[in-house]
Amino acid sequence: GAANIGVVGLAVMGSNLARNLASREGNTVAVFNRSRSKTDELIEAHPEAGFIPAFSYEEFAANLQKPRTAIIMVKAGRPTDAVIDELMRVFEPGDIIVDGGNSLFTDTIRREKAVREAGFNFVGMGVSGGEEGALLGPSLMPGGPDESWVTLGPILKSIAAVAEGEPCVTHVGHDGAGHFVKMVHNGIEYADMQLIAEAYDLIRRGTGKSPAEIADIFAEWNRGELESYLIEITAEVLRQTDAATGQPLVDVIVDQAGAKGTGAWTVQTALDLGVPVSGIAEAVFARSLSSHREQRDVSGSLPGPDDASFTVEDPGAFIEQVRLALYASKIVAYSQGFDEIRAGAAQYGWNIDLGAVSKIWRGGCIIRAQFLNRIADAYATGDELPVLLTAPYFVEALGRAQDAWRHVVQAAAGAGIPAPAFSSSLSYYDGLRAERLPAALIQGQRDFFGAHTYKRIDKDGTFHTLWSGDRSEVEAEDTH
Ligand code: 6PG
Repeated sequence: GAANIGVVGLAVMGSNLARNLASREGNTVAVFNRSRSKTDELIEAHPEAGFIPAFSYEEFAANLQKPRTAIIMVKAGRPTDAVIDELMRVFEPGDIIVDGGNSLFTDTIRREKAVREAGFNFVGMGVSGGEEGALLGPSLMPGGPDESWVTLGPILKSIAAVAEGEPCVTHVGHDGAGHFVKMVHNGIEYADMQLIAEAYDLIRRGTGKSPAEIADIFAEWNRGELESYLIEITAEVLRQTDAATGQPLVDVIVDQAGAKGTGAWTVQTALDLGVPVSGIAEAVFARSLSSHREQRDVSGSLPGPDDASFTVEDPGAFIEQVRLALYASKIVAYSQGFDEIRAGAAQYGWNIDLGAVSKIWRGGCIIRAQFLNRIADAYATGDELPVLLTAPYFVEALGRAQDAWRHVVQAAAGAGIPAPAFSSSLSYYDGLRAERLPAALIQGQRDFFGAHTYKRIDKDGTFHTLWSGDRSEVEAEDTH
């Protein structure tokens, strides 16, 4: 075959990735789609790409150099399994099958095992950056065996986004590591978006500024430490006027947030791993709450604060407090996300370089931001960082922000404005800070009703109080 790389699945993400591949020196791209029309359309629209089309899996395999390398860009779930089966039918041992969809990492672990046992290489790869990223340079998070990285690495480096001279791709770890990291990326994306939405809501309701005026505030923020793609596009969305009504577009969009599931996966996985990703969880739940129209129909009947008018005295000062609260909460969300990656790596036996992950998110992906350099710096020191936010830079930033953060959360609660991500992030922070937590009381309760035992601060061993007896303490078997 003449092509060094192939793409299966030519919907928007697949065709854009194929065009990106074709535009790079040295690549010849074989393409295949289940229905012929998509292939014909792509070939016709982009003759400059020099695609080699195929109309059967056999032909697609014949068009590829060995070891054959094909990237699957189809819907996660069953369609992905179906394509993998077809490729295994026509490929030969040693060939590389890459899944570039938003697959659940446990599916990737299962597939990698099955495909490896059949003699092929399987790489689950997170791809971020949406349609434009796929075309111009995405952030790529491949997992899979080291062997496949030899062939795949140079190709992926050629198409990835570039941040500060470095391609936004690294071999994240074995089997499902890439999709795991992509999943957490999306969880962080949810948290970041929710935090920005809360900041907008508080400023709007606290100062009465229009969406266009708030767009200017976000544009200003985008020149400082909050500089990021999500802040930038927020300004664009807030500035948009609806052509039909002349209203700000944000006021005519139905206030029910959709979700395709990757945020929920991040939280479900964190629950299994016992990692407190509370900011991400609140962001997922906030979308759920927004979308339950029938539940929200009670809105008029639930009492709120007497003084519902919420007007801040010094708008400029308040806006700065919100900015600081946003920054502090963002530090918490990213810290929680990296905590989940660390726990996932330990659980699944992946050797993940957290600093490298923060670097490949600096370009191409939805959460790209200057801020990720600070995370890379934190991991670059080689210090043991059991919690990312304890890195000196973040401690300083949180110290600078905490008064404002508390004030904003108080103001939101006082005025009856929901700020779940702001407030849960602050609670998480104060939970980490607390010298003693009321968890001691919970242990006492557990021991009372279930003899679940407790540890003492002053001696080793496991203890139980004879609650229904004479309430003396006995040594006990550790039951956790
Ligand atoms: C990306 C995005 C992308 C997409 C997700 C989340 O990195 O390019 O994360 O994967 O936006 O599907 O979308 P939902 O908000 O619909 O869950």
